[in-house]
Amino acid sequence: MIPVALRWIGDAAGHLELLDQTLLPGSCTWLACRDVPTLVEAIKSLRVRGAPAIGIAGAYGLALAAGEAMRGALDADRARAHVLARGEELATARPTAVNLRWAVDRCLRVVERLPSQVGPEDVAAAVLAEARTIHEEDRRLCDAIGRHGAAVLPEGGVLTHCNTGALATGGTGTALAVITAAWDAGRRFEVFADETRPLFQGSRLTAWELVQRGIPVTVLCDSAAAHLLATGRVAACVVGADRIAANGDTANKIGTYGLAILAQAHGVPFYVAAPSSTFDLTIAAGGDIPIEERGAAEVLAPLGARAAPEGALAFNPAFDVTAARLIRGIITERGVIDPVTPQGIRAMLAAGQLGTTAAG
Ligand code: MRU
Repeated sequence: MIPVALRWIGDAAGHLELLDQTLLPGSCTWLACRDVPTLVEAIKSLRVRGAPAIGIAGAYGLALAAGEAMRGALDADRARAHVLARGEELATARPTAVNLRWAVDRCLRVVERLPSQVGPEDVAAAVLAEARTIHEEDRRLCDAIGRHGAAVLPEGGVLTHCNTGALATGGTGTALAVITAAWDAGRRFEVFADETRPLFQGSRLTAWELVQRGIPVTVLCDSAAAHLLATGRVAACVVGADRIAANGDTANKIGTYGLAILAQAHGVPFYVAAPSSTFDLTIAAGGDIPIEERGAAEVLAPLGARAAPEGALAFNPAFDVTAARLIRGIITERGVIDPVTPQGIRAMLAAGQLGTTAAG
């Protein structure tokens, strides 16, 4: 079974449902989001998470905003202002994954193109249609990333970090889709998942997805990765991305940078898999990517169990930046960028990033 992270229920007056990822793997509980504050809370607390998935959620969030305007019987001007303001709340709910801002802006451009006198009903219908398009596009490009990635994956074990599967996207995933596409094509290899502290996306979510699909998975503590690589059981590392700068420097879940250094030290190719919506060509290099810092409790009391004394402080960056020189290739829906250079990135994206042709 391939899980689903989010689904829209009903027509433009409907609502968004999220599979609450904070409760996995213990329970599959759907959370109904009928207004933007509920969705913003869900994004901030990682009930929905993963760069493409929060982008899709943000797009549907604008449809919720238009629904709020309908219920409030706002006139055309006030409805538009309401949707714009809600767009800002959604786009800034988490700072690192560029997909969130990208998807919200794409829907806002649709609103801007509507005649100024249209009411909230038409705004809601137009935004919902764009959100559905973004969702469907993501489903298709996950499949393409999986295909391109499986073609370059060497024979042997694969190590991944965080969760980049169906739970993190609108389809089968990015890095995890590379692994599952190779598996579905009949290849057999060991799959290793870093547990991914402090929130355990690797052990709670990636392992759960792979078990659901009948693919054997071995979970390791993040601190065991160096030893695992030293054993020679890993032929490649594949991870996702939250934002990729113009030079290929890549922000992804905290621990990715360390893993990339370990992979280089052991001569293991390190691949990043991401859709073109994850590239941010306005940022020249990784040092300018905003890195989310999260609360101390995630580190001091992981999964609610106290692991450090009262009074201890915590350092809890949610992401780090891996330099382009450590990345063998970036697997996109259009093919693999290898070597990772600014020129290679520009050439791959030259046909226009997703949505830029359709949405201006
Ligand atoms: O904090 P999270 O769980 O949203 O972080 C997710 C990641 O870092 C993923 O690797 C990334 O978003 C790519 S998901 C296809």
